[in-house]
Amino acid sequence: MYTLSSLEWDRVISEIMNCRKCPLYKNRKNPVPGEGPINTDIMIIGEAPGAKEDEEGRPFVGPAGKLLTSLLEKIGIKRSSVYITNIVKCRPPGNRDPTDEEIAACLPYLLKQIEIIKPKVIIALGRHAARTLFKQAGLHWRSMGSMHGKVFEGVISGVRVKIVATYHPAAALYHPKLKDVLERDFTDVIGRLINNIRSGFVEERERRQKTLLDFFTSK
Ligand code: URA
Ligand code: SF4
Repeated sequence: MYTLSSLEWDRVISEIMNCRKCPLYKNRKNPVPGEGPINTDIMIIGEAPGAKEDEEGRPFVGPAGKLLTSLLEKIGIKRSSVYITNIVKCRPPGNRDPTDEEIAACLPYLLKQIEIIKPKVIIALGRHAARTLFKQAGLHWRSMGSMHGKVFEGVISGVRVKIVATYHPAAALYHPKLKDVLERDFTDVIGRLINNIRSGFVEERERRQKTLLDFFTSK
């Protein structure tokens, strides 16, 4: 059965597949819209496709993707249960950083994906994803050093989300110390948050807090 949101979803994906809104379309082999179920509670958002992603048209399938998949397994989350995408949907030549203009041109696609999926949690991988998403959520971004591995809350595309930033798995592959930090962010913060949300613990606690608040304010 086609629902309104699945029609809208198909439209965003086909727009991305045919997009020429920024110069990155010129060198791409395949756009990489994202992968995973759209009725999920978690979105993982990286920076931009690399060489292998560009070849296959799928996100996080190269070495950084292998690390991401193993981090998810470590915290008991199936890769197939989360939606994985990037801030920018086409590969920047030579894996350079995307420019601010390219990010701005591509962002409406991600915002629409967030609006349709309505995730409860967004994990931002790397500083480009993090600063872009924090800004959208109305949160002040300082630096990865001071903001990684902490749970923030904001509204993106009208959706209230918990948002956690951490280091990019590609950076962690080059810097073993960052890999330890990334692993700890996944095990101590991201894993706990997701498992609490999936077990209904967070909602239950929030509901109880609200009830208590109602109790005190109605006195
Ligand atoms: N790095 C990213 O940021 N995204 C990918 O999809 C792959 C590598
Ligand atoms: Fe379009 Fe985004 Fe690809 Fe640029 S990166 S061509 S805006 S889909």
